[in-house]
This record gives sequence, C-alpha cells and structure tokens, in this order.
Amino acid sequence: MTNKLTSIEFDGRVLSFSETVRTRRSYRGFLPTPVPQDTLTRVLEDAQRAPSNCNTQPWNVHIVSGQKLAALSVLLHEKHQTSDTTPDFTFDMNHFYGVYGERKNAQGKAYYEALDVARGDIDGRKRASGYNLSFFNAPHVALLFMPSFGDNVRVAGDIGMYGQTLLLSLAAHGLGGIPQTSLGFYAEPIRQFLNIPQDMKMLFGISFGYPDESAPGNRMKMDRVDISESVTFHS
Ligand SMILES: Cc1cc2nc3c(=O)[nH]c(=O)nc-3n(C[C@H](O)[C@H](O)[C@H](O)COP(=O)(O)O)c2cc1C
Repeated sequence: MTNKLTSIEFDGRVLSFSETVRTRRSYRGFLPTPVPQDTLTRVLEDAQRAPSNCNTQPWNVHIVSGQKLAALSVLLHEKHQTSDTTPDFTFDMNHFYGVYGERKNAQGKAYYEALDVARGDIDGRKRASGYNLSFFNAPHVALLFMPSFGDNVRVAGDIGMYGQTLLLSLAAHGLGGIPQTSLGFYAEPIRQFLNIPQDMKMLFGISFGYPDESAPGNRMKMDRVDISESVTFHS
C-alpha cells in the first residue's frame, strides 16, 4: 500500500476536504458504467486508512459486481417477497423516540415523495424499499462484515469509520454510494451465497458507482439540524 500524498482530480477540479464532505450524499440511482479497477483500488486504499480500536482493522469487505451481483439481487428479492429476514444485528425503527423518530419520518417522507409514492400506498412502499435489493442499479456493492467481539458496539463503530472513509473517497473521486442497513437483513443468504464463514457478521453494505443524477431517487437532499442541537460546549 502506498502512503504517497496525491490530489484527486475529476472534471479538471480538485475537491477541498470541505467540498468532499458536502458533495457526499446518499445516491439512490446509478449509471451501469463500472468503476475502473485502479480507481476502485485507490478508494479501497483510502478506506483502509480508517481508524479502529487498538488498530484491529476489523472490516472484512466483500465487493460484488457483474453477473454475481445480478444473481445476488435475484436471491435478495426472493427473500424480500417472503419477508425472510436473518439480520445479525437488530434494527427496529420503532425504537427511534422523540426528535430521532421525527427525523426518521422526515427522511422516509422525502424518499417516498421523490418517488411519487403516496403515503397509504403499501405496495408502492414495498416496491420502493425493494430498490435497495437491486442496489439502486449500482454496478458494485461493498458488503461490510466484521468479527464478533463482546457486545460488538466498538467493532460496529470501527466499521462505521471505515464506511464513511470509503464514502468520502468515492465522493472525492467523482463517484457516489449509499450505506444500506437493509442489505444486512439478509446476512445469512449473503454469507451462503459468497461462502463467507459463519463467524463473520454483516453490519451493512454500500452500493456504489457513478450516480445517475436524473434518477427519481436522487431528487431528495437531506438537510441537517444546526450544530447547536447536537453539540454542547463545556469550559
Ligand atoms: C449505516 C447506515 C445505513 C443506512 N441504510 C440505508 C438503507 O438501508 N436504505 C436507504 O435508502 N438509506 C440508508 N441509509 C442512508 C440514510 O438514509 C442517509 O444517510 C441519511 O438520510 C442522510 O442523507 P445523506 O446520506 O444523503 O446525507 C443509511 C445510512 C447509514 C449511515
């Protein structure tokens, strides 16, 4: 691995750190064009620089592309149809209370509005959530697995560090991605499909590629609350 400092150019421009952070967003629609292998390698080398508890680097990353990705999508849609989920870690959106629940609701509303799915349209909503399992048409997905240690909270934090570093590197290279907990609902069939050992647990996946700016799923842009709602200064 090289530690040489490089500046990244696309469209003849170099993005500052601030621009990279603000350019990154979750994309829900991609062009079929695959990412060149050398670009993918550079992005993965960037992500590998993520910090972790005691430098354990617990990320075990599986990149799926091409025919294999198409076959995986078919399998996941089959499981989705029968609601056959096998997550390694619980996820219940009903647990989000107060402002967290409000923010979750605002995000869901923005997504369904972008797709013109009405509030009471149950089938439309199921179809829309199913787009996750088509990887939003991305040509690649990175599936993030981890070893299990204790209650796994610290390990999951490390995987989050890795995921964000990967996403920022994608943004800096003119690419886009979306982290997807929804892929982790199918941890067991994914493990079997890719022959991944049982002791590797899946946290989430990141579909990525060249964003399709005209895709309906990319019409929404999520805002953030003011830092005064998240940060307390003590002195
Ligand atoms: C760990 C993680 C898992 C996520 N899972 C999903 C998912 O399964 N499906 C989805 O459409 N968006 C998913 N998101 C994307 C969030 O909805 C998105 O990050 C948030 O609304 C903020 O929008 P932005 O990323 O465009 O700034 C996930 C984000 C994170 C960090």
